[in-house]
Amino acid sequence: MKAYRASLLYFAGMQAVYEQDGLLVVGADERGRQVVQAIGSYQSLAARYPDLAVEQLSGRIIAPGFVDMHIHYPQLDVIGSPAEGLLPWLENYTFPHEKRFSEPDYSAQAATFFVAELLRNGVSCALAFATSHPESVDALLAQAQKNSLRMIAGKVLMDQNAPDGVRDQTEQSLLDTEALINKWHGQDRLGYAITPRFVPSCSAAQLGGAGELAGQYPDVWIQSHVAENKDEVAWVRRLYPDARSYLSVYEQFGLLRPRAIYAHCIHFDDEDRALMRDTGAAAAVSPTSNLFLGSGFFDYAGADRVGHMYGLASDVGGGTSFSPFQTMLAAYYVGREGQTKSGVSLSPQQLWWQHTAGAARALGLEGVVGNLQPGCEADFVVLNPQATPLLARKTAQAGSLDELLFALIVLGDDRLVEKTVISQSLS
Ligand code: GUN
Ligand code: ZN
Repeated sequence: MKAYRASLLYFAGMQAVYEQDGLLVVGADERGRQVVQAIGSYQSLAARYPDLAVEQLSGRIIAPGFVDMHIHYPQLDVIGSPAEGLLPWLENYTFPHEKRFSEPDYSAQAATFFVAELLRNGVSCALAFATSHPESVDALLAQAQKNSLRMIAGKVLMDQNAPDGVRDQTEQSLLDTEALINKWHGQDRLGYAITPRFVPSCSAAQLGGAGELAGQYPDVWIQSHVAENKDEVAWVRRLYPDARSYLSVYEQFGLLRPRAIYAHCIHFDDEDRALMRDTGAAAAVSPTSNLFLGSGFFDYAGADRVGHMYGLASDVGGGTSFSPFQTMLAAYYVGREGQTKSGVSLSPQQLWWQHTAGAARALGLEGVVGNLQPGCEADFVVLNPQATPLLARKTAQAGSLDELLFALIVLGDDRLVEKTVISQSLS
């Protein structure tokens, strides 16, 4: 067992708890995983652990590692590629970049960079797209495993409306998916996600096959995109003129259930939101991507009114930053847009929750990651609020928890993250 003395931030339900002088005690559970044994004020806990080695982190804040609900590891080099909108962006930048991942060496070096960049930014759990090449999944999950990272990833399914070099073949793509599930899902901290890219790039046979696998392997994740962009929505309407909505196409193929994570969910009506709620699917809200690609604004008030799950995501490379602080700030801007219509705006505690405990809940990993309650895997960030002169000046003046968290969200980036500590398995 080991303990850390620092300021602590964690969640009780959706409520943020802040301990100015806190103690975090970490130790192995019965399965040999490093988990949180105790958390609270130094005063209340220190006497209970008289012989424990305590690492002093004075002036630092320990908080849960961030959870990124939607990111593309092959799109590292696509960040900042301007386009009129989603569809030309995919065609002109994204597909050509993803072709390179047919080369295992290329995938391996991108995976190494990607995992290091997640850790540098304080992200300790991610749900990630690879490319259509099965070996691209091997490269990412092998690298995540090496770093003990909790990573969920999948081979992209895309058997139509995509160029040579990234387009796959229906039957083989489903065989590859099942083989990858058997190879990776549940190994150490790794998980597999069945990954139909989006409706336009998948034939009905491929979507149906994906849905069958999703039924056969109920604890495997599903990840895709939905209702991101108006031209995309119109395209799906042309492909499925009888479907009630874009989302209902996924329902038709058995792809809505708990652990199904849909990026964007912008152009939704309340029936779509109710379908998300009733099936237990969740939205990955990707505000930097939506602002960069001009896709639109996630309707927070609508999601809360109907009551479906959601959490935050970078969506790199449509998204512009790996930093959860940049993503939370963009989400705040988007919440302000909704505020004019509904009176809703997002508090810094809500933003932080959406990128940690809330994202974990949406992924079906509540009590596992995204929080520092006893029993949670011990993934955490050590934040240095003095990391820049302006952060130091601003955080020193914070008169409340909200003011402190706002200062970190607005001024924070990778410099704020001094260290990301990942739970190690001791068995
Ligand atoms: N829709 C289909 N593929 C993609 C992708 O790679 N990024 C985003 N943002 N939307 C998509
Ligand atoms: Zn995406």
